[in-house]
Amino acid sequence: MNLHENYTLIGPFTQILTMANLPEAGPIVDEEMEVLEDGGLVVADGKIKVIGKYSILLKVAQEERYKIEKITEPMVLMPGLIDAHTHICFAGSRANDYAMRVAGKSYLEIARSGGGILDSVRKTREATVVELVDNLKKRCDRHLCEGITTCEVKSGYGLTTDEELKMLEAIKLVNKHHALELIPTCLAAHMRPPEFSDSKLYLQEVLTELLPQVIELGLAKRVDIFIEDTAFTEAESLEYLLAAKEMGFDITVHADQFSTDGSKVAAEVGAISADHLEASGEEEISLLKEAGVVATVLPGASLGLGMHYAPARNMLDGGLCVAIATDWNPGSAPMGDLLLQAALIGASEKLTIAETMAAITTRAAKALNLRDRGCLAKGQLADMIAFPTSNYKEILYFQGKLKPTIVWKQGKEV
Ligand code: NIG
Ligand code: FE
Repeated sequence: MNLHENYTLIGPFTQILTMANLPEAGPIVDEEMEVLEDGGLVVADGKIKVIGKYSILLKVAQEERYKIEKITEPMVLMPGLIDAHTHICFAGSRANDYAMRVAGKSYLEIARSGGGILDSVRKTREATVVELVDNLKKRCDRHLCEGITTCEVKSGYGLTTDEELKMLEAIKLVNKHHALELIPTCLAAHMRPPEFSDSKLYLQEVLTELLPQVIELGLAKRVDIFIEDTAFTEAESLEYLLAAKEMGFDITVHADQFSTDGSKVAAEVGAISADHLEASGEEEISLLKEAGVVATVLPGASLGLGMHYAPARNMLDGGLCVAIATDWNPGSAPMGDLLLQAALIGASEKLTIAETMAAITTRAAKALNLRDRGCLAKGQLADMIAFPTSNYKEILYFQGKLKPTIVWKQGKEV
């Protein structure tokens, strides 16, 4: 019997960008990035068994009768991309908001005329689980084609116990059958729902009614909140998040998008990540650094709202671990193209190729508190993407227009 019948050798690749052994936070120069020339890897049971020179691995594979998946053109292999912040479970479109925004209407005016987050809440509440599953699945198909192999998805357009559960159930259903792995997050604290006049009472209900069911049904291990004057205040958020943390949830926050209370709260509760951070300055950066919070920047929201990017360069120089995610949502960030957005913020913020690539792989994994992915090394998940080029620098150089042509999720080509 062949002991290694489930072993597969994949290669050769002109270059393998492993993204392994990089500093967890702070600046990275390109020379620190490991580039394996003429490499290959052996995968089994969804994980990487060995990574190294293809010619050496080929000898072993032939002797031990591994399966061989031969790559016949010049290609660069890297870890599958990780999108650590999205809102892709929703119904409807907010194209009307967009039209009003570019015609000069403010966020508040748009909300008053029936647009904004609560418009997506109305449409998502009207949708059935089947419709939500269908919408989400289509967005996952696109993301997978663009090289994303792990994607965080938030609830937050339900804002009642039942409607939030409906969203999380839809995410769970898609996750069961889709090759793109979804990491669900409960964002019931996205906005105060219209049925409540008191935010505290609403958050209390989330804590006592919704979150225990989320745990019991295994629907999410992460809790998020939108900290902003128009959503939840610093004090409300702090109390809510401490209670959610006590229940065992990992904490992430929408912080410092317009004003700067969010990163203070993130640091105080020991959040895994603080996301947005367009308004963050020196003080916020050092608070996050001190508390070891990952800074996830969202260029898609800056592009969608016509705002400046989060200060990613200053964050890295200040010692932060910076991840880049799309924030793909129907309002502020409808584009959802991670590679394109990473290339754009990288060009504006002067991020090295290594910093940008780390921000959508290994550092994005850290933002989701995942240790089993984000780099190509022995024991890691065989989530990988290959680009039709022989120079890794071309991936960002083409600003998202060069797409991967092969995607593997846990060792299987999808
Ligand atoms: O991350 N800032 C709050 N929430 C989302 C926007 C969601 C929406 O507009 O529907 C964000 O940008
Ligand atoms: Fe968001």
